[in-house]
Amino acid sequence: PSLKSYHTFALDASCSTLTPFNSTDAFLDAYTRSDLNYLLGEGSNTVFLSDFDGQVLVNHITGMTHTETHKAHTLRVGAGENWHKLVSTCVENGWHGMENLALIPGSVGAAPIQNIGAYGCEVMQFIDRVEALEIESGRTLVLSNEECQFGYRDSVFKHALAGRCLITHVTFSLTRNGEPETSYGELAKLTRPTPSAIYDEVIRIRRQKLPTPSVLGNAGSFFKNPVITQTHFQALAQTSPDIPGYDVGNGQVKVPAAWLIDQCGYKGQELGGVRCHPTQPLVLTNTGAATGENVVAMARAIINDVSSAFAIPLEPEVRLVGEKGLIAL
Ligand code: FAD
Ligand code: EPU
Repeated sequence: PSLKSYHTFALDASCSTLTPFNSTDAFLDAYTRSDLNYLLGEGSNTVFLSDFDGQVLVNHITGMTHTETHKAHTLRVGAGENWHKLVSTCVENGWHGMENLALIPGSVGAAPIQNIGAYGCEVMQFIDRVEALEIESGRTLVLSNEECQFGYRDSVFKHALAGRCLITHVTFSLTRNGEPETSYGELAKLTRPTPSAIYDEVIRIRRQKLPTPSVLGNAGSFFKNPVITQTHFQALAQTSPDIPGYDVGNGQVKVPAAWLIDQCGYKGQELGGVRCHPTQPLVLTNTGAATGENVVAMARAIINDVSSAFAIPLEPEVRLVGEKGLIAL
């Protein structure tokens, strides 16, 4: 079966078996029948670079329950629900907090994995607990927010639990008296920052800057924003006085990878059907003619040039899948 419509970068790859599932039993049953598996939500952070020699399991565990107290709304949501649909439901019902994360593609179950974030918020602020099936033992794990070990685009699901569990449900807690988050530049301009005004503005900004996957294949930010030492940052500022950076504490500075890539001249450039997006150079797009080899070639060229110019190693944010599974660049 073709995977083209199962990952937003939309390369023409295939797999040996494609199995949608909507329960843990169905998942385990299919999983144990194949020696090589890849678990997929909506494929918006996964790029299938070549034909995958195994089974792709597509999560459709759905459902949502809502409970409330005088302090908070609690939502327990199936991992196969669509993220943006959840955010929209919350805004419509007056359950506030997650509106800054509107229009991020993907499934609810993938959100904790890289602690999705945008416009001043990260999903870790709203997660109460994550339920997961430990594949080898068949046990249910319930991880508290702290046990998820969230960081910038990071969690325990990328480390100790990587490849070892199926997230089945995520429980969110949205407090009733939360303050709107408007620190991100363009949101600060809102005169009445109500949750629905933030929601609309985030959608407007995203539509302006980011390519729509159904129109132009892409996987969002291809690389993470690198975090470097204050000493390194100051040394770079000697030769590049306009280098942007955000103090993240502990003597560390986060530098926008988009700026580094822009400085290296890649913005708008194309290599074999892989284009560095003109309004957001951190995003690589598939013009329609991209191949897995060219995605790797473009990504490596960017990594090399940014490393030579700034001595900063860029790391992919996306998951790259080859014939036998995840690969590193
Ligand atoms: P997939 O690509 O299907 O899976 C991602 C990884 O999670 C894979 O390794 C997969 O095996 C694993 N996985 C998926 N589901 C489960 C599960 N239930 N249990 C265990 N493992 C699982 N991200 C941001 O943080 N902020 C943004 O602003 C943002 N903007 C984006 C804009 C665009 C246009 C695009 C295309 C992507 C953007 N992303 C952004 C990245 C992406 O939306 C998120 O990473 C999203 O959470 C991926 O969800 P998915 O279901 O598509 O994941
Ligand atoms: N910039 C340039 N040239 C450009 C565009 C941007 O130099 O052409 C520089 C500017 O300095 C700008 C900076 O890049 O201030 C930051 O750009 P932007 O605010 O668009 O965000 P980003 O840091 O590139 C991150 C996330 C996005 C998230 C946005 C909004 C990562 C890896 N990416 O991008 O998440 O939507 O902030 O909060 O952290 C994703 O993860 O897939 C993703 C899209």
